[in-house]
Amino acid sequence: MNPVFILDFGAQYSQLIARRTREHGVYCEIVPYDTPWAVLAARAPTAIVLSGGPESTMASGAPDLDPAILESGLPILGICYGMQLLARHFGGALVKLDRAEYGPATLETPVRASPLFDGFARASRVWMSHGDSVTALPVGFAGLASTARCEVAAMGDPARKIYGTQFHPEVAHTEFGRALLGNFLHGIADIGDDWRMDSFVEGAIGEIAQTIGDDKVICALSGGVDSAVAATLVARAVGERLTCIFVDHGLLRKGEAEAVVTAFRDVLHLNVIAVDARERFLAKLAGVEDPERKRVVVGHEFIAIFEEEAAKIRGVKYLVQGTLYPDVIESKTPDSKVGHKIKSHHNVGGLPEHMDLALIEPLRKLFKDEVRELGRVLGLPPAIVGRQPFPGPGLAVRVIGAITHDRLEIVREADAIVCEEIEASTLDPKPWQYFAVLTPVKSVGVMGDGRTYANLVAVRAISSEDGMTADWARLPHELLERISSRLVNEVAGVNRVAYDITSKPPATVEWE
Ligand code: XMP
Repeated sequence: MNPVFILDFGAQYSQLIARRTREHGVYCEIVPYDTPWAVLAARAPTAIVLSGGPESTMASGAPDLDPAILESGLPILGICYGMQLLARHFGGALVKLDRAEYGPATLETPVRASPLFDGFARASRVWMSHGDSVTALPVGFAGLASTARCEVAAMGDPARKIYGTQFHPEVAHTEFGRALLGNFLHGIADIGDDWRMDSFVEGAIGEIAQTIGDDKVICALSGGVDSAVAATLVARAVGERLTCIFVDHGLLRKGEAEAVVTAFRDVLHLNVIAVDARERFLAKLAGVEDPERKRVVVGHEFIAIFEEEAAKIRGVKYLVQGTLYPDVIESKTPDSKVGHKIKSHHNVGGLPEHMDLALIEPLRKLFKDEVRELGRVLGLPPAIVGRQPFPGPGLAVRVIGAITHDRLEIVREADAIVCEEIEASTLDPKPWQYFAVLTPVKSVGVMGDGRTYANLVAVRAISSEDGMTADWARLPHELLERISSRLVNEVAGVNRVAYDITSKPPATVEWE
């Protein structure tokens, strides 16, 4: 298959571009930004996309591409950093902004817009994340769209089919982003649309069967949709030779440990060993306040327990994990040379140097909603496929500061109330994710006639499609009121509630 190549300059969003491209039924591959044109040309690509990146094109030693790519005659789309590189190479001018621009902006497109903007409203919402801007267009390029703070928000040279956007069409919060990529891929680059999720399933099962051969494999069940889908895929490939291990680390939500074991044993009919490791995790986490340290501690303990359990089953060589692309990218963009580390996601940063088991991560290139779609293709029950995402380190990253048994109980009870109220509400659709965070802040209150000095709980509810970008959910005030009053009345130790109104970026979804 002739690929679209996405040159990765270390953006948080490179895989998202890949995924959006696949959604358009177009096969693509991500390659390091400095891959020589000769290597790409050998695969007869159909188009090139230049990703964004955390650096400035004006910095010395800034990541750059092989200029021969620009002369290849292929259609090219440069996004953010990618557009700035195009500007530099073709003789435009750039300036460093006094204040970087992050988040939503309103894009204005002219009446007779470029074919890149087919289907756009004259004014639409786009997502920005940049510190430099193009101030003078390169020769042969026209300005195609602008925002209040960014005059050249898109540019293009239709004769050479080379385009650039300063905003990110790949993120869910860019209103017509999907249309823009479709316009580029199908309209401008004239590529067909025949790639499907079914091809992923067949490919993945075949690959897993081949890797595992006649060996045995264990799967790390977390209770979430990711490990369920990963386990089911592997079970399809190797059947009985898969044993699932569910570690109850005591960091799950209320009632979840029991629900997970039932679902996997009785509904999915998988081989499940349940390990009660609650005390063990609590002991390891005692006194640990640093978020990164917490993630690493939980990750290490998880793997240690898997290894102990695996040692009890003869001939186990592999460990399956439901690591998703966002977990990988936010840990350090391993396939990219220039990504910046945001946080160590469980399953990735937490891995010990030495491991006795080889890893199988069949979902490593997928995003959350792609995994849900895959789960449906595999026939998993809706309760599992629709479960909201939950971080591997669980409530450990939702108790800010030191973790104790009592603080875990507070956040668990608080979380249950947040979930109950939102699930019972008439909201449609429900927010993508919602939960409680126990902050280390105490404040003064009054209950009955007495003074209280107790904990502040923060409520977070977000809309998102993939966890890569998110916006805070506009929950009705009445719902917030019910949540707040139940939290203060029903959870001992809570006397104040705050609602988190930050988007991602700049905040992350989890507080730690
Ligand atoms: P952040 O906080 O990084 O979260 O913006 C993005 C999404 O990922 C979930 N999350 C995790 N998932 N292991 C996981 O499997 C982790 O360590 C982890 N940390 C965060 C988070 O709940 C959100 O949906």
